[in-house]
Amino acid sequence: MISGKAKLAGVIGHPIGHSKSPLLHGYWLREHGIDGAYVPMNVAPEALSVAIAGLRALGFRGCNVTVPHKEAVIALCDTVDDGARAIGAVNTLVFDEAGHLHGSNTDGTGFMQNLREGAPGWRVEAGPALVLGAGGAARAIVHGLLAAGAPEVVIANRTLAKAEGLARDVAGAGNGSAIAFTLDAVPDVLPRTSLLVNTTVLGMSGQAPLTIDLDGLPGTALVTDIVYSPLETDLLKAASRRGNPTVDGLGMLLHQAVPGFEAWFGVRPSVSAGLRDHVLQIPPRG
Ligand code: ATR
Repeated sequence: MISGKAKLAGVIGHPIGHSKSPLLHGYWLREHGIDGAYVPMNVAPEALSVAIAGLRALGFRGCNVTVPHKEAVIALCDTVDDGARAIGAVNTLVFDEAGHLHGSNTDGTGFMQNLREGAPGWRVEAGPALVLGAGGAARAIVHGLLAAGAPEVVIANRTLAKAEGLARDVAGAGNGSAIAFTLDAVPDVLPRTSLLVNTTVLGMSGQAPLTIDLDGLPGTALVTDIVYSPLETDLLKAASRRGNPTVDGLGMLLHQAVPGFEAWFGVRPSVSAGLRDHVLQIPPRG
């Protein structure tokens, strides 16, 4: 289906076989009838700079970057946007016509867009966000929340030093503040929480469960999880049972992909129910 003029992009990671990005970009390429391809590329850490030079030489428009390259690739970019610099990780690379490489991070904006579409009544300005975890995903999410206008982000993590480092790195992303605690602080913070986010791996299939008592969380607080396997985590189930609005984690994965697709292929794609089903490998309805 592709011609000699096809636009090329893809995703680099190590390993890469689990990535859902080829499925979702492939869906959009077909949906829009674009002459282009998006391919998975398994790049070992020691081959990263050769791989980036190769993509430039091959005329790729750019690529997504996943584990373990998101931090290391910063040194290979000609320009990096402020958000990606503060987060310390790049997930989207775009070559311009002169071959200059621009790095950005769309995880935080994808997270926010997922909340806007999944919970249109909820407002980021409404009150503090409580973020569980301080790993790579949390870095992008805390930055995204502050940049979008959150008045306060409370980071609760098993390892306090990581939460403190994150709070320092994102200071200045907005007018709000970021403060760091261990997980022991969660019961005290819950009563003033307007958004609860799990960014830890707890609750993911094959991982330990997330044990958190939601008592004290206001009924209006939005609850979201970046874990999307299972799609409805125990955290989301417990939140729904007590009447809290919830947003699942798949949407963040889909929304973070939008800016890259637009930059490489020239069309701004939408995140539809059809795309969700395709990525979950649910057969088309009707
Ligand atoms: P990601 O890039 O997906 O965020 P990560 O950087 O490995 O993954 O971060 C994993 C997060 O889950 C961290 O916040 C980690 O806590 P530590 O910083 O203390 O390691 C958290 N996490 C993992 N296993 C955990 C556990 N058993 N209990 C509590 N937190 C855990």
